[in-house]
Amino acid sequence: MRNKTNNKIFRSFKYPATLYRGNQCRIIASLKQFLDDLGAEKVFDAFSGSGVVSYLFKNLGYEVLSCDNMQYAYHLNKALVENSHHTLNQQDISFIFQNNENPGFITETFKGLYFSEAENRLLDRVCFNIHRMKHPYKKSLALAALGRACLRRRPRSIFTYVGFHHDTSFENLKTTLKDHFLIAIQDLNRAVFNSGKSHQTICGDVMSIQSVDADLIYLDPPYPTLKGDNDNSRRYHFIEGLCTNWSHVKIQHETKTKKFERYKSMFNTIEGSRKAFEELFNRFQDKTILLYWNSMSAISRDELVEKLISKNKKVNVFELSSKSSNQNHELFGREYLILAK
Ligand SMILES: C[S@@+](CC[C@H](N)C(=O)[O-])C[C@H]1O[C@@H](n2cnc3c(N)ncnc32)[C@H](O)[C@@H]1O
Repeated sequence: MRNKTNNKIFRSFKYPATLYRGNQCRIIASLKQFLDDLGAEKVFDAFSGSGVVSYLFKNLGYEVLSCDNMQYAYHLNKALVENSHHTLNQQDISFIFQNNENPGFITETFKGLYFSEAENRLLDRVCFNIHRMKHPYKKSLALAALGRACLRRRPRSIFTYVGFHHDTSFENLKTTLKDHFLIAIQDLNRAVFNSGKSHQTICGDVMSIQSVDADLIYLDPPYPTLKGDNDNSRRYHFIEGLCTNWSHVKIQHETKTKKFERYKSMFNTIEGSRKAFEELFNRFQDKTILLYWNSMSAISRDELVEKLISKNKKVNVFELSSKSSNQNHELFGREYLILAK
């Protein structure tokens, strides 16, 4: 049985705030109150992204299954949600930094694009070693920390432009890439904890998952907006590549950014999203569905509520509150949870 957080299962929330786009760190307190009262035991976080909500579920005593189609998201979730015991110790860190005969792929391919020559050489060296690590949780911790360091060292924390000219005032640029990496290792190490339950992480397209052992389905897909692109694989292509040494993608060498083809997802378009919601609502008709929605979405809240009612669901809508509401409303729209039982 899951216990509510006012008893001993709950511990202080140590998830290191993330720069991952779409993350729900800013509304975590509001989510916590809500999720604690749902009366479910096993949750499927179908679009887990940064992992902050999966981590909250774990913290609240749920058994968690997380899924995302991004490699970086997968390693974050594996390192902090699925992993209950393992951290990177001094011996692991020495292994990660040791000299090696790496082929210099990053130095050659991304010369002058995102990081300095010396930083590229460092990335080649540590990446080569990380991919030789045998322990899956330690490897995920290392990749999650390396991705985090790269995001922090990059102005605006994205890889959709090249060069170093943007935002020289960017506070994080005062710290070297190596130090960002070491700090990230400490931050992630601190966040590892055992909730007494077992958890699982999947990397893949949620639409290919036909059934799950969970009583609660949490859906926070990338909502299509009328303003533009919601695709994280384009934004973070460099750290996605790092996670597999670019083995799962084909670099488009003719592009300035050396990106790869964006991941296919039904959620990349408005019509695709409509169909995907229909499919997911049918698939999980016999479960409790909890859907995050914000007012920037090109698909209306009423449309989703009606779709859920047509599946014989009893639906309630709750507005989420965040700290500096006015500013957040401009950035993120008004935010809601749609609960369908
Ligand atoms: C809005 S973000 C989720 C944010 C997450 N709740 C958090 O707090 O960090 C949406 C996520 O869905 C993932 N995604 C997009 N299409 C997907 C698909 N077809 N299958 C699985 N994940 C997908 C994206 O990679 C992204 O991480």
